[in-house]
Amino acid sequence: MRVLITGASGHIGSVLADRLDEQFEIRGLDVRAAPASYRGEFVVGDCADPVVATEAVRDMDAVVHLAGIATEADLLLVLHGHVLGTAALLDAMVRHGVRRMVLASSNHAVGMTPRPASGEPIQTGTPPRPDTFYGVGKVAAEALLSLYADRHGISSVAMRIGSFLERPTSRRNLATWLSYDDCVAMVEAGLVADFEGVVPIYGISANRDAWWDLDAGRSIGYHPRDDAAAYEHELPHAPEDEAEAQWVGGPFATGAPTRTAFELDDVSEGGGT
Ligand SMILES: NC(=O)c1ccc[n+]([C@@H]2O[C@H](COP(=O)([O-])OP(=O)(O)OC[C@H]3O[C@@H](n4cnc5c(N)ncnc54)[C@H](O)[C@@H]3O)[C@@H](O)[C@H]2O)c1
Repeated sequence: MRVLITGASGHIGSVLADRLDEQFEIRGLDVRAAPASYRGEFVVGDCADPVVATEAVRDMDAVVHLAGIATEADLLLVLHGHVLGTAALLDAMVRHGVRRMVLASSNHAVGMTPRPASGEPIQTGTPPRPDTFYGVGKVAAEALLSLYADRHGISSVAMRIGSFLERPTSRRNLATWLSYDDCVAMVEAGLVADFEGVVPIYGISANRDAWWDLDAGRSIGYHPRDDAAAYEHELPHAPEDEAEAQWVGGPFATGAPTRTAFELDDVSEGGGT
């Protein structure tokens, strides 16, 4: 199976490109050059450019779309990789008859969801409730998956990733950690599972203290093994832990809003007639 990985020079992309290349034939795409350790085919370009996307998707069987700004940023920057990039790649998939996308969505698509007092895990069917423009970009990307599933028969997994780290580093990670091994297993499952439509799943490990439900992931064959609780003894307590645990988006949800969608400099004064 030939797989395009966008954002292949990034944190998640470089781990996936390194670990998936025995089972799949990988082509990487990124605006940055490939890491020195990268093996195989690589395209330097912007996934939101329809010409680049069309060429990059040619001859592929599936797309793993990770490219984009991986944190809060100005709205236009966020929309570029996560929304325009997703749309350009989906268009390219329609053109070339490619039928599967595995998308890096984020917990921040539902980040303003309060954690239930019962401690019950939050299901994938919870309504979109972004905590940032970044989260808005992820909600819109998931909406594009739905549109292209219904209109063009492209099936997708929207991985609402928690915190992808080699080891957990905070108390919040007891709930949100996604280990390298589990991330690789999740993407593998997303690529080969037999289903139609869009399956949103939570991209976390089998954490004892998980905030999100893992059943949707299991339904497509994602069976995580790691548990952040194994590192609990080394995780420091911080004053913000309690506040951050009230919303699933943690620090993105608790921080005061620091931006408007547009800087005033970007908005032309006056107006038309
Ligand atoms: N790391 C996490 O814990 C986490 C959590 C939730 C969601 N995610 C999502 O997973 C994806 C990958 O995250 P990451 O941590 O590897 O981020 P990263 O910043 O390390 O990697 C992103 C890569 O995308 C590339 N890129 C950005 N815009 C591009 C464009 N328009 N065209 C081509 N390449 C472009 C960047 O150059 C970079 O190499 C992102 O979509 C992020 O939002 C990550």
